[in-house]
Amino acid sequence: MVREVLVYPDKRLKEKSAVVEHFNQELHTLLDDMYDTMIAKKGVGLAAIQIGVPKRILIINIPIEEEDGAQPKENTLEVINPKFLEMRGKTKYQEGCLSVPGYYDDVVRYKYVKLEYFDRYGNKHILEDDGFLAIALQHEYDHLEGHLFIEKLSLLKRKKFEKEWKKKLAKLKKGNK
Ligand code: CO
Repeated sequence: MVREVLVYPDKRLKEKSAVVEHFNQELHTLLDDMYDTMIAKKGVGLAAIQIGVPKRILIINIPIEEEDGAQPKENTLEVINPKFLEMRGKTKYQEGCLSVPGYYDDVVRYKYVKLEYFDRYGNKHILEDDGFLAIALQHEYDHLEGHLFIEKLSLLKRKKFEKEWKKKLAKLKKGNK
């Protein structure tokens, strides 16, 4: 089921998410809804808090270029209670976010990450990456801590963003997109 995605500056996006304790049907339904919502909104990642659920859950599904950007459900990485074990290096990438729709900007992240996490059945895994997945994991993890990528912009860029965003939201309210 597609759920509503919270949009900045919704205060709930600042909430710190809580550890998942029960790997049950409710969790599975939530994960399935997160996938449906991410696909409907054409995203590559989503954190549970973005649909208003403050739990430490994120999903990532990197489109398959050779298959016209397909994002089959079985390719979804479901990450519960993640913990970074190692982070190093530096990389810059133009990021976007379903909670800040239509805005993209360069963000500096760690190049390499090693992550411990649990799957939907409560099994523990460890993964390493130094490509796009590493960036996406850091972006989504920030959501669990109540942070958005726009907080990483320079002061000047942030000011410009806030000004443009206010105008955009005012327009959306009037209904003339
Ligand atoms: Co995001």
